[in-house]
Parts: sequence; C-alpha cells; structure tokens
Amino acid sequence: KIARLDALCVQARILPVVTVRQAAHILPLADALAAGGLRTLEITLRSEHGLAAIRTLRRERPQLCAGVGTVLDARMLAEAEAAGAQFVVSPGCTAELLQAGLESPLPLLPGASSASDLMLGHSLGYRRFKLFPAEVCGGVAALKAFFAPFPGIRFCPTGGIRPGNLREYMAQPNVMCVGGSWMLDGEAMARGDWASIERLAAEAVALLD
Ligand code: 3PG
Repeated sequence: KIARLDALCVQARILPVVTVRQAAHILPLADALAAGGLRTLEITLRSEHGLAAIRTLRRERPQLCAGVGTVLDARMLAEAEAAGAQFVVSPGCTAELLQAGLESPLPLLPGASSASDLMLGHSLGYRRFKLFPAEVCGGVAALKAFFAPFPGIRFCPTGGIRPGNLREYMAQPNVMCVGGSWMLDGEAMARGDWASIERLAAEAVALLD
C-alpha cells in the first residue's frame, strides 16, 4: 500500500481537498479540476454529499482518482470503502483508525502533526502521512526537523498551502505532494463559475514546472 500511495501522490503532485456543497456540483467541479490538470481528488466527508460524490465519480468519471478525506474513525473508513473510494485520508491518527487502515484494502494516508503521531503510525508500518495542519504545526521547518529522525517517512503537507508557499513545500526531500483547497474558490463554486476553478487549478499546476 505504500507503493500505491506513492504512485498516487507522486502522480497527483497537488491533491485538491474538495468539500461538495451541492450534489449537482460534483461532475462540473471534477471536470474543471481535471481540465486544469488535477485528476486526483480528495472528497471530504465535511458535507453530506461526500459519499454520494464518490459514487458519482466512480461511475461517471472512472478515469479520475477519487479518495475520501476527513475520515475520523473505522466506521467512516468502511463507508468510504463501500462508496468505492480509491484511497482514504484522515486529519489525524488514532490507534483504532490506523488498525482499521491496516485491515482495509484501501491505502490510508493518516494525518500527523507531531513526532508522537509519526511514531504511532510508524510502529504499525505507516510511512506516508498527511502533515496537518501543515502551516500551523510548523510548516517547512517541521518537515526539515522530521527528516533526520524519520528519514523513511514522506508527507503530503496540507492546511495553509497556497500559491505563495507551494514551491517551498514541494522542494523538501520528504514531500511527495501537497494538498489544499485554495483552488476551490467558494464564491466561484457557488455561482457555478467552473472556468475560474479550472484556471486556478491550472495556475497551481503551472507553479510546479
Ligand atoms: C484539509 O482538511 O485538508 C484542509 O481543509 C485543507 O486546508 P486548506 O483549506 O488550508 O487548503
């Protein structure tokens, strides 16, 4: 599963963290992100549309890679799996969730914000983590500090990533991709302005070259 996470994250480079506010948004939103170059999506369970959005994407846009985010416990992991998610992301780690992740066929990217979180995950075999909330828990300085004691661990920093700091994060040797919601402008989504979402996605991708 580490290899699957690596393949997924390295290919994605930027993982949009999508909270679906209206069920009808999911396909135009996913299409706009894909047109902008972002084809791997984390759909959060922060709205009631999250699981239905995953089912819709798996059925209608099988060429995209769709995972579930904001998974807090084993029950939510099971729901994500049943909906057809291809990967699962959590904001933090508990022993219960990490254990459920080991038993699930899906790769789990657990959230970590401290050396203790990393040690807990590491003890169970996890080597890939979402650094969350990245900017709040130390940002690039934290990544540099974690590199010495945890050389085999790689991160998807998320939380506070913006066009202005994206490159600095991506330049860290222990970063495999970054996540964030900055390209999902709330006002643009509310008025169905998918061209703006596509432009923001394309601008983010352009920063990587
Ligand atoms: C997440 O849960 O991953 C965050 O909401 C994403 O953080 P951002 O909104 O600061 O990009």
